[in-house]
Amino acid sequence: MYDGDIASVLITEQQINDKVTELAKQVDEDYQDAGGDLLLVGVLKGAVMFMTDFARALPQPAQLEFMAVSSYGSSTSSSGVVRILKDLDRDIANRHVLIVEDIIDSGLTLSWLLKNLSSRNPASLEVCTLLRKPDAVQVDVPVKYVGFDIPNEFVVGYGLDYAERYRDLPYIGTLDPKVYTSGV
Ligand code: XMP
Ligand code: MG
Repeated sequence: MYDGDIASVLITEQQINDKVTELAKQVDEDYQDAGGDLLLVGVLKGAVMFMTDFARALPQPAQLEFMAVSSYGSSTSSSGVVRILKDLDRDIANRHVLIVEDIIDSGLTLSWLLKNLSSRNPASLEVCTLLRKPDAVQVDVPVKYVGFDIPNEFVVGYGLDYAERYRDLPYIGTLDPKVYTSGV
């Protein structure tokens, strides 16, 4: 699939599976007192694979909600100005909310999202991200659960795209530079 487009495999399917299981176990332990009231908020579209695998790996029941946001600015960097494309369907007041993210890069999107969701008065609000890049450390966003810290490279696969492609890859990889330059 996508022959020649992927320069290297950064995280294999097996490594993702193991990490998802590990994170789900940890979250399950931490939310024993939530009384089965855990609400997962997945951020579309990137987090969709992680969200569905995570929910199935989670030993306790959880409800699933999705939000779609878009940050204004160029396609490969975030501006921090965020627009809601699809809001939550339900009220999250007094709910235990866990944001499920694919990747935190600058942290600007997440920082905005945390502010937005906390203003809706959830009982608790935490973040679980599969990937985090080093730049994220510069913005003070409290992220309780992190799958992998990765180098500052553009990655695709397992929900992450370049121009809407590669989301369906079962692993995380880096793109061959020829993909950026050939203009698909
Ligand atoms: P910030 O910088 O606000 O941005 O943390 C987070 C969002 O930017 C996208 N993003 C990526 N998408 N490969 C992608 O496919 C990447 O390497 C990458 N880095 C950032 C992504 O939508 C994320 O939610
Ligand atoms: Mg995203």
